[in-house]
Amino acid sequence: MWKLILNTMDNIGLFYGSDTGVTDDITKDLVALWEHDNLEVMEIGDATKEDLSKYNKLILGLSTWYDGDLQSAWEAFFDEFKTIDFTGKTVAIYGLGDQIGYAEYFVDGIGILAKEIISNGGKMIGCWPTEGYRFTDSVALVPNNEDLFYGLAIDHDNESQLTDSRLTKWLHQVAQEFI
Ligand SMILES: Cc1cc2nc3c(=O)[nH]c(=O)nc-3n(C[C@H](O)[C@H](O)[C@H](O)COP(=O)(O)O)c2cc1C
Repeated sequence: MWKLILNTMDNIGLFYGSDTGVTDDITKDLVALWEHDNLEVMEIGDATKEDLSKYNKLILGLSTWYDGDLQSAWEAFFDEFKTIDFTGKTVAIYGLGDQIGYAEYFVDGIGILAKEIISNGGKMIGCWPTEGYRFTDSVALVPNNEDLFYGLAIDHDNESQLTDSRLTKWLHQVAQEFI
């Protein structure tokens, strides 16, 4: 049923960045799990503002580094990212992090991007429950609803056994929310 629905979807731009290859691997898994051929994938390190601006539907992937910083390619792109007009755009984010080693900054990168998207007119989808994670703080928490992250939190360092099921469930959610 959901395949039929997806046939009506526009192309989706997926932009991601990875420092040690984890987000890279997860992105390959994500593409394999996405049961459609409307994903166009690019590393953020190779992308321009114009590349992102082409899409009304976006999926963004990143990890968080150095106590709540963006992954390095996202960090380098961030000044340009802040100038994108997200009006009419719908965005889903998946973020890699380590809830044990960096409990106070868990997946902060999701929140850093989400806040810019919202303040520049965009709509976030793919919010994900915080239930079951063990962290102390995160910029990715939705204000006024701290039971939700702004996107999918993946802790492949400590909970790799949950990554596939989290990704699969989230992709079904995102596919429905993109409609
Ligand atoms: C030095 C260092 C700093 C990190 N800082 C954070 C952090 O602030 N918040 C977080 O959630 N994860 C943090 N992590 C965990 C990474 O986000 C995680 O290992 C991720 O899977 C790396 O993905 P990548 O290889 O795609 O960059 C850090 C890891 C290292 C090694």
